[in-house]
Amino acid sequence: MTELDARLGALLEGRKAKGRFRSLKEYDTTSQSDLVDFSSNDYLSLTSSSALREAYLRRLSVSPSIFGSTGSRLLSGGSPSHASLERRFAEFFNSPSALLFNSGWDANVSFFATVPQSTDWVIYDELVHASVHSGLRSSRIPPERRLGFAHNDPEGLATVLRRILSSASTSETKSTVFLALESLYSMDGDMSPLPALLTVMDEFLPRGRQCVVLDEAHSTGVYGKHGRGVVHALGEEGAWSGAESRDKGKGRVDVRLMTFGKAVGCSGAVLLCSPAVRSFLINFARPLIFSTALPHSTLIALECVWDLLQGPEGDRRRKSLFDVSAYLHRLLADLLRTTPHSLLHLPPDPIVPFPHSSSPYLLADPASPILGLLTPTPHGLSAFLLERGFIVRPVVPPTVPPGGERVRICLRAGMKRSAIEGLVTALREWVELKTTEGSWRAKL
Ligand SMILES: Cc1ncc(COP(=O)(O)O)c(C=O)c1O
Repeated sequence: MTELDARLGALLEGRKAKGRFRSLKEYDTTSQSDLVDFSSNDYLSLTSSSALREAYLRRLSVSPSIFGSTGSRLLSGGSPSHASLERRFAEFFNSPSALLFNSGWDANVSFFATVPQSTDWVIYDELVHASVHSGLRSSRIPPERRLGFAHNDPEGLATVLRRILSSASTSETKSTVFLALESLYSMDGDMSPLPALLTVMDEFLPRGRQCVVLDEAHSTGVYGKHGRGVVHALGEEGAWSGAESRDKGKGRVDVRLMTFGKAVGCSGAVLLCSPAVRSFLINFARPLIFSTALPHSTLIALECVWDLLQGPEGDRRRKSLFDVSAYLHRLLADLLRTTPHSLLHLPPDPIVPFPHSSSPYLLADPASPILGLLTPTPHGLSAFLLERGFIVRPVVPPTVPPGGERVRICLRAGMKRSAIEGLVTALREWVELKTTEGSWRAKL
């Protein structure tokens, strides 16, 4: 063993002692497997769609290019297929322009590392994805100008804005205040109360000084007409309209991130933004400039997925997903009513995110396909569920804050009701086992 291996080993032992050790797990989740996967982000079950598979193979067989793009978008990697897919996305999502990235991670890192300038401010929900923080760490924004606010709390946002306005010098009247949010949070599974947060922004700042950035990683394909996302369903897509028309009402979200690795069943991402932001990223975003662009096979898969999403099959799958989600929420509510809170519970009751929504695509209180079940022993619960045939992954700090240890349940459109019932029966068994062991009673 080298010196380096020994030192790394000691550091990993420390991580193990804290219960934070990570290792790669490979489960067989193909149709031949008996395991039911409650950890996949394949919300619309597209990765197992035989119709999609056939459409993809047909198109691959007649496409002149199917392999790698051979270079960065700025060198040999840019092709008419990349540009044409960006045009399709700009039109579909109602954005003035669109820029493809190799992943949602790359897109967030690129945006937050380059677009906010040293005299700007960035406010973020305390639960935004790690990629936003990684971008900010390599940005020009000093740490004191990056401010978090309590998750989904409009009053918390107002407090931060008051602080900014009281400390900002008068020479700062041109600085932009960025707001980083997600539409559907990946760990708590709750929706951002976007209308309330946008109203708070408007109370403190003129539109021209705001830049609202919404990460729709978990809502792409799932919410909105044909899966256009939450912002589109609310009519808040805005970068195209310019400050004047934005002042008239809607259109308050400037930048959106849509990712392809989750409900879309592929990989990559698209950033929807103004032409100026797009051009700035092409000039300064290192993950875009110095990395090989998306391969043709992925572009072809994305075209096929969008053909499906824009047809009735997408609607059918979204409806199935919302049905299984509502079913699990109902069964879990029954179980948790009689379960000691310290043993298993959901995050605090989410506020109703869209109380006045008139959109047919956004219920006032949509049943989320992600549930975080908080428990102090997520590893034990996950192993118990796996023995009974259910893949449910533990999530521990630093991915979630200390005290937020949980198992995370993700639902898919193709799930059978019997699978949901089986999972809840297994959870009930575990609760009964733990409560009769008495170890939990002693702690109550
Ligand atoms: C909210 C959010 N944003 C961004 C990403 C990164 O997306 P990708 O997996 O495409 O890199 C993720 C992935 O987990 C995510 O959950």
